[in-house]
Amino acid sequence: MKHLLKLLDLSQEEILDLLNLADQLKYERKHNIPHPHLAGKTLGMIFQKASTRTRVSFETGMTQLGGYPLFLSANDMQIGRGEPVQDTARVLSRYLDGIMIRTFAQKEVEDLAAYGSIPIINGLTDFCHPCQVLADLMTIREYKGSFEGLKMCYIGDGNNMANSLIVGGLKVGMEVAVACPDAYQPDKQVLDFANPTGKFTMTNKPIEAAVDADVIFTDVWASMGQEGEAEQRKIAFAGYQVNDELLGAAHAECMVQHCLPAHRGEEITAEVFEAHANEIFDEAENRLHAQKAVLVKTLGAR
Ligand code: CP
Ligand code: NVA
Repeated sequence: MKHLLKLLDLSQEEILDLLNLADQLKYERKHNIPHPHLAGKTLGMIFQKASTRTRVSFETGMTQLGGYPLFLSANDMQIGRGEPVQDTARVLSRYLDGIMIRTFAQKEVEDLAAYGSIPIINGLTDFCHPCQVLADLMTIREYKGSFEGLKMCYIGDGNNMANSLIVGGLKVGMEVAVACPDAYQPDKQVLDFANPTGKFTMTNKPIEAAVDADVIFTDVWASMGQEGEAEQRKIAFAGYQVNDELLGAAHAECMVQHCLPAHRGEEITAEVFEAHANEIFDEAENRLHAQKAVLVKTLGAR
């Protein structure tokens, strides 16, 4: 695997390979079996947006693999003063063995890959969040044993999380049902992929999407960069909440997942969040293991 730019680029086999490796790395970590697959390699981590999980899990993950993680705040780099990404890519390719980037435009990530000569990993853009969804799929398989016959449901904003969950869920063979307000639908590129699969449904009624679900996801109503729209979004998303009534429509054993940070009382109630906290924090932990698999498959393959 050369890069991880978006899940649309990966085959089902590549996704399952990553999940299998993630399970193995998790097992080795729990049993104190060292796995220095990236000894001597350096990962640059460029952040144009805030992060807790992505930064810490990549940083510790790279360290556990024997490599070195270099945190690069965009505010302190020339890229933050307008140096083109095409030039940044070519310079950093001379020093580093790989780059993880969190930014706004997906094009910036694609340009880094096009102009640089080292693996690029997408740590979240406005379009998608592939590392998060690999961890989510890993968690679902851990709890449910397989993806066979499962229905995934997503409630809320048709944002980066929705886009990646739809693609990831469908690629591993799950049925995917999404409920978004009409004005906040997922990306057209994602809908064009999803609609022909015959396993995808889209509605503006949360309860309808939640019927018989095995796992329900939601995400914040206003993502990073949309803080100015927060009040308007609170109105648009009222009713798009994961609460006990919604869970009543799902399977009794339905999991609840949230990429975090969560806004209790908005997209999820405090009661549902706490009742499913083990699943949600296992999901957060699995960022570490899933991303280590991504690092080994990209940086390690060189
Ligand atoms: N879920 C996630 O990506 O969290 P951070 O924004 O804290 O990295
Ligand atoms: N949709 C959220 C995800 C945060 C991990 C955002 O982009 O802010």
